[in-house]
Amino acid sequence: MRNVRVGLIGFGTIGSGVVKIFQDYGADIAEKVGINLVLKKIADLDIVSPRTAFVPQEMLTTDAREIVSDPEINIVIELMGGIEPARSLILQAINNKKHIVTANKALLAIDGDLIFRAAQECSVDIGFEASVAGTIPVIKTLREALVANRIESLLGIINGTSNYILSKMTDEHLDFATALKQAQAKGYAEADPSFDVNGTDAKHKLAILLSIAYGKKVNIDAIYCEGITKITPEDIKFAAELGYRVKLLAIAIRREGRVEARLHPTLVPANHPIARVENNYNALHIVGSSANAVFLHGEGAGMMPTASAVMSDVIDIARNISCGISGRVPSRHPDERNLAELAIVPMEDVATNYYIRFMALDRPGVLSKISGIFAKYAISIASVIQKGRMQDGSAVPLVMLTHSSRERAVCEALLEIRNLDVIAGEPMLIRIEERD
Ligand code: HSE
Repeated sequence: MRNVRVGLIGFGTIGSGVVKIFQDYGADIAEKVGINLVLKKIADLDIVSPRTAFVPQEMLTTDAREIVSDPEINIVIELMGGIEPARSLILQAINNKKHIVTANKALLAIDGDLIFRAAQECSVDIGFEASVAGTIPVIKTLREALVANRIESLLGIINGTSNYILSKMTDEHLDFATALKQAQAKGYAEADPSFDVNGTDAKHKLAILLSIAYGKKVNIDAIYCEGITKITPEDIKFAAELGYRVKLLAIAIRREGRVEARLHPTLVPANHPIARVENNYNALHIVGSSANAVFLHGEGAGMMPTASAVMSDVIDIARNISCGISGRVPSRHPDERNLAELAIVPMEDVATNYYIRFMALDRPGVLSKISGIFAKYAISIASVIQKGRMQDGSAVPLVMLTHSSRERAVCEALLEIRNLDVIAGEPMLIRIEERD
């Protein structure tokens, strides 16, 4: 049986999961795949702390260069995360003709152009299934299973931590800080959890999905991004009363040669499959021109689910090595050097329905002032609900749902409304996604 040798850089949570798969299922994999995968070396700055998986000391090194320059190693798994030194190590490994498997979404979203081009020039493969949605095979689905489709829309829950927090705030009425602490304890959150809750992590993943769904370069700064930090338990409750769940949704919608690409808290009808995705689970609802709706669901974060995605790439590449091929399925496009940039619809031109909650004084005439401003901006109101009654004229929540309206008009109207003397504090705006 052919041996394929693997080096692992990064022996943290996911790295330990990968080692466990080598140790617990290596023989099964060899039998199933007909290739013997050999984990030769592991690099991490910390090689003394106890891990879930035990490895002999001679397999460990603190110097990742030993792995990227080892002539025996065929595949380098990079699980250290962050931009540097991960980028330099991956580029060195590529130059040394090693195939790469990485879960590094930030690096691929920001510097994917450099890495994918280098890989193509050196005829090596890059596996990055674990970079988006943990165990869910969404990269494989977009690059292979749905390759004959034009992607009409993609709705995704692709950050396990924020989905966990929103689920706990909705179902167990936990406050934000307690739910975040639980997500950290379970190992879902990034080293810097602000990346999870401010949307950065999901934005990186959306950029990767867009680039493979449309075979283009993606300017990550053109993706609108808003996290979950301003979502209140009251808004979650009002949304539920109106038949919606609040989700941090990554959204891509094809629009006449351009694509809407946005990431923000979203009201989703409670009966939509994506509304029922709970805790650290991720999901993708993809509509293809021929396939129609495809729904993928699975654990998007955590040690073993993510390690499973890493190993699926390792095995894919090992199979290519044993057939003497590379680049059969290009990372994004067969010609990385001449890749066009994806045209993204500017956020102010996006039209959608809105949930807007004001804190308004409970007095006659308030509603007509607000609706007068909406009328001025041609925003059509679908419904209005006042929550509670304050006879003393103090502020009460006033929830309005709009019909489809342009973002620019809604933002301008809200600027005017918040300056009314009958409005207290900042209005809360949450976009609604009614797509089937
Ligand atoms: N912090 C990420 C999440 C881990 O919560 O989804 C997986 O990328």
